Amino acid sequence: MKLNGEWVRSVARTEAGIRILDQRKLPWSVEWIELRTADDAFRAIREMWTRGAPLIGAVAAYGLAMALRDDPLSLDQAHAQLNQARPTAVNLRWALDQVREAVRNLPLSERAEAAFAKADSICDEDVALNRAIGEHGLKLLEDLYARNPDRPLNILTHCNPGWLATVDYGTATAPIYLAHERGMKLHVWVDETRPRNQGALLTAFELDGHGIPHSVIADNVGGLLMQRGQVDLVIVGTDRVTANGDVCNKIGTYLKALAARDNGVPFYVALPYTTIDRHLASGADVPIEERDGDELAWLSGPTGTGEPATIRVTGSPAYNPAFDVTPARLVTGYITERGVIDLI
Ligand code: MRU
Repeated sequence: MKLNGEWVRSVARTEAGIRILDQRKLPWSVEWIELRTADDAFRAIREMWTRGAPLIGAVAAYGLAMALRDDPLSLDQAHAQLNQARPTAVNLRWALDQVREAVRNLPLSERAEAAFAKADSICDEDVALNRAIGEHGLKLLEDLYARNPDRPLNILTHCNPGWLATVDYGTATAPIYLAHERGMKLHVWVDETRPRNQGALLTAFELDGHGIPHSVIADNVGGLLMQRGQVDLVIVGTDRVTANGDVCNKIGTYLKALAARDNGVPFYVALPYTTIDRHLASGADVPIEERDGDELAWLSGPTGTGEPATIRVTGSPAYNPAFDVTPARLVTGYITERGVIDLI
């Protein structure tokens, strides 16, 4: 998508490895960092220099390729290590499995090249999947817009399910980008998404870069907006959808789904097949990442004069689960590369 007017993907090959955007610095500073080893990839995922379910899968796939370049015997050990970088998004394991399957029967001398080629194809496929999600979601937006063409369509989203969370286009944002490109009047309510503020920092940055009207709202505002008829639909991404259709996504998603149901607002989940985990029966089985309480207790950003600053927002111990589960019964539909469906 567009970054300072230039079309880029959020991960790309370099001579020594791959480059990613340092998402800890956005939107205040746009910096690419190069990852040269599997350890670099592991650290970038775990410490969230890069993030978002499909994107961490793509970066892990390259991480495994870099491990094989440096030691062709390291397949299982590097797979196991990278798979532990973060627990919740199933795309991570999916992508690592894809690379392992592609190389496991090859001679050692051919493994690295084949692994890089597989990682490249995972990236290309992610772009195509998101584009297809966008086309199917676009029809949905057009239908809703047609009911009230005199005013912008109001979409609420949570966290960052955008091009920064994928290789390109995003999942929940793909229909929004396509609708905007085709001239639809729309406005996006962007949940701030505490504690890491992926909405306020990343989704708003993306939408701004594409000139899409949006407003950042505190995480608790959505319910009021829905009661007032100011939200036409909610679209979120997801890190794992289980066999029964339960949706694990960024903490706070469930409360939006409850408010949407209470107010008759459609609640859609956008996802590629790479995010479905048919091995788990329900959302109760999904491992929910618990991150350091400091993410909640401290806030960082520039002061009014641009100096970097970090301040405390609480002195108490903080508890910080990073994801929650929205039961399938609260989901109006799933926007997938195959179309908009009711059941997974
Ligand atoms: O902790 P994060 O920032 O990696 O969480 C990301 C999300 O929860 C996204 O909504 C999810 O990955 C789906 S986006 C394609």
